[in-house]
Formats: sequence, structure tokens, C-alpha cells
Amino acid sequence: MSSGPEGEVIRVLIVDDIPDTRENLRKLLAFEADIEVVGAAGTGREAVQKAGEVKPDVVLMDINMPDMDGITATKAISTAVRTAAVVIMSVQSEPGYLRQAMLAGARDFLTKPISSEELYTTIRRVYERNEPIRLQEQQITSIATSAVQTSQQSGGVISPITGAGHVIVVYSPQGGAGTTTVATNMATALMRQDTRVLLIDCDLQFGDIDAFLNVQPQLNITDLTKAVNDMDEEIVNNVLFTHGTGLKVLVSPAHPEQAYDIDPEDVKKLVRILSASFDFIVIDTPTQYDQLTLKLFEVAERIVLVCNPTIPAVRNTRKMLDIFDNLEQPGGLSEKILFVLNRVVNERERGRGTVPASSIESHLKHDVVGQIPLDERSVLTSVNQGVPLVAKNKTRSPARELADLADLIRRKVEAEGGEIEEVPEQTDQRSKSGIRAIFGG
Ligand SMILES: Nc1ncnc2c1ncn2[C@@H]1O[C@H](COP(=O)(O)OP(=O)(O)OP(=O)(O)O)[C@@H](O)[C@H]1O
Ligand SMILES: [Mg+2]
Repeated sequence: MSSGPEGEVIRVLIVDDIPDTRENLRKLLAFEADIEVVGAAGTGREAVQKAGEVKPDVVLMDINMPDMDGITATKAISTAVRTAAVVIMSVQSEPGYLRQAMLAGARDFLTKPISSEELYTTIRRVYERNEPIRLQEQQITSIATSAVQTSQQSGGVISPITGAGHVIVVYSPQGGAGTTTVATNMATALMRQDTRVLLIDCDLQFGDIDAFLNVQPQLNITDLTKAVNDMDEEIVNNVLFTHGTGLKVLVSPAHPEQAYDIDPEDVKKLVRILSASFDFIVIDTPTQYDQLTLKLFEVAERIVLVCNPTIPAVRNTRKMLDIFDNLEQPGGLSEKILFVLNRVVNERERGRGTVPASSIESHLKHDVVGQIPLDERSVLTSVNQGVPLVAKNKTRSPARELADLADLIRRKVEAEGGEIEEVPEQTDQRSKSGIRAIFGG
């Protein structure tokens, strides 16, 4: 007998409408010390209920069953119990079924009649592959769990026309400034029991939100932009992915060249359509300023402009602010801006070439509304685990500052029914020649 990871027992739920099949599987699995059958179900509906109760590691799922078929049950279980890996058991490997099962979230397939060795190997394989998700779930604290529960209670299904639809675009004209870090954490921190949040990766060529959150959705933004003129709830529900925190995620295309097939106008339309179903849509963007980012700025209620406290970053931000000032839009784009500094070092450690926030404020004539400290270790660990910092411990810096930023945005957009407030202009003339000299302005 081969065994799974040391000391761990793989908990299995058997789902099949034929009692003999359930019994045979149970007997086969009884021989393996590292596998324990924790339940059995005879219908899809029963399977979904049992999976929610016993939280199995692996579900052996038949396809044809009364009341709810195996594909529908797989979809419900994969959304509600992310740590459960579903293995589909079918009479013959029909390509049509396999594709549907894959889209529903199945991890592997077994063709009946199933040999014992094949059964054991497949169970152990999917269990091992699911380890990152188990670790991720362990990291997520109760802060975000309430949002997961709400999402699970509603079956993870998006209902239309229920959201307040605040669109927040996160942008930086400087590559690597921390746009994705800020967008991911802010979106997570905005979630509440009564607040539905969607995070969209609009860095269409090199988006990495899937890596930041350690998710591998089968479908991406292309699948929705293609359907933008004929959108229905089912398509949306199929394409959006639910992270363990409860955050809904729409990832960028799997291959950079697919970005060329996406019309920026369709992305704008898509955001508008989706905003009817969410309270907040947070959008991560690429560095370049182009048709797509321009459309996103137009549709945004707020633009979180991320900047590092370095001279080149501030200079780029200044150029961007000049563009915002000159873009014609009712109310102007610069009024939407919330200016945030990322990778901020404290007074003592400065002197390594970083510029104080006060000088940056004076130079850019924009208040800094958030300062996220530099913390390589915790930011990297969070990315490697696929768990946003704010979902782990909101009280520790830099999660605290990221959560504060989310709170500030919530307050701003919710004040006076989501009316955009004026961002206070700097009235004092702190833009002295010394500062100009530093930034070359
Ligand atoms: N406050 C921080 N402290 C330490 N490291 C950080 C911080 N913010 C971001 N990083 C790290 O900097 C790198 C770039 O961050 P991120 O991917 O969020 O930036 P970006 O602006 O989205 O980059 P890109 O231009 O590639 O899209 C990542 O490795 C991230 O872990
Ligand atoms: Mg990025």
C-alpha cells in the first residue's frame, strides 16, 4: 500500500445513486489506511448538503443522478467547499461531459469500472494538488469569512441589479509600484456581509491577479467581453471565480496575445453591466496609458493613483496628473483621484533615496490619502500563499494601512449617496523652488 502525505488522512465523500456502487467503493477504500470515507450520498442535492456538513477533501461524483446531476453538484460544491476536490466517475469518458465537468470545477476523472489502484492513485493525486488551497484556507481569518458565508448561502450566484456599483480603478504610471498589491488588498478589505465586491484584472497582457490570489480559473475576461452584447446571468456566474475569502474575481487572458482581441469599449460596457450586481468593482490596470486605461478612467468613480516615494515615480505621476487635468470630462478626471504612496519607509530609514510624503504632496498638489509601508517579507509571503494581507491580520502593518485605505474609499463613495466629493486642493503654496528642483518640475 502506498500512502498519502505523512500522518494525513484523506476524507472522502462518495456520491452515486446506485447503492451497490457506493458500497463497493466504500469496501475498496476501507483497505487504505490514509483514506477515510466520511459520508455517502445518492443524489446531487444530498451531495451538496453532505459536502457542506462534512467538508470532505475529495468527492467521488457520479454524473447521472436523480434530482440534481453530478455536474451541477460539482459546481455547487467547488464554490461552497473550496478544499473539496471533485473527481467525476463516468461510464465512458464522453468529451462533452468532461468539458462541462472541468468548467464546473472537477479536478480529475475516473472511468467505470474503476480499478482499485486507479482509484487510490487518483484520490491521492487530487488531494496533494489541492494542498495550496488547504493552506490558503487556513490563512484566511474570520475577518473575511463572513463574506464567504454570505456568498455560500446564496450559492455563490450573482443576482442582477442589487449593487451600488462603485467602480474604483487602481493605477500607476510606474511599473511595479504596487498597483496589484493595493487593488487586491483593497478589494478584499471592502468586503462585508452586506457588500459584494468584484476584482477585475484589466492588465490584459501581463495581469497577475490569478498568481496573487493563487487561483486558476478556466475562464477569463475575454469570455465576457465576447458576450458583452448578449450577457446573461449564467455566463457571468460561469466566468467569475470565487476566492477563498469570498472575493469574486475576473482574471485577465491566459495568453498576452489574446489582449489584442479585446475592444476597450467592450471592457467599459462590461464594467457598467457588472456594476449593477456589485457594490464595489475594483479594477487593476497596466502601467501604460492607452485607450483601455482611458476608458477605465472614464467609467471610474474614483481613481486610486499609486506612487512610490522615489523621484522617478513622482515625476511620472506628475506627468500623469497633467494628463488628467487636460482630459475633458464633466467634473474633470483629477477630482476622482485618491493619491496613495506605497513602499513608504520610516523617518529613520529614509536617506536611502526616498522622498518624504509632505514634499510629494506639495509638489503634486494632491493630498496623500494613504501611506502603505514597505515590508518585503509580509507582502511576498502573502503573494506566495495566495492570501491578501488584509485577510490574514488586518491589525498589523501594512495590512492595517491597506484596510484603512479601503475604509476611506467606502466613506468617500458612500457619503451623500455616492456623490463624488471634491478632493481638497492644497491652498498653501508649498511648491517651493527647492521641491521643483528635486522633481525637475
Ligand atoms: N508595500 C510593499 N512592501 C514591499 N513590497 C511590496 C509592497 N508593495 C508591493 N510590493 C512588491 O513589489 C512587487 C510589485 O508589486 P505589484 O505587482 O503589486 O506592483 P504592480 O504595480 O502591479 O506591478 P506591475 O507593473 O508589474 O503590474 C511585488 O513583488 C510585490 O510583492
Ligand atoms: Mg500589476
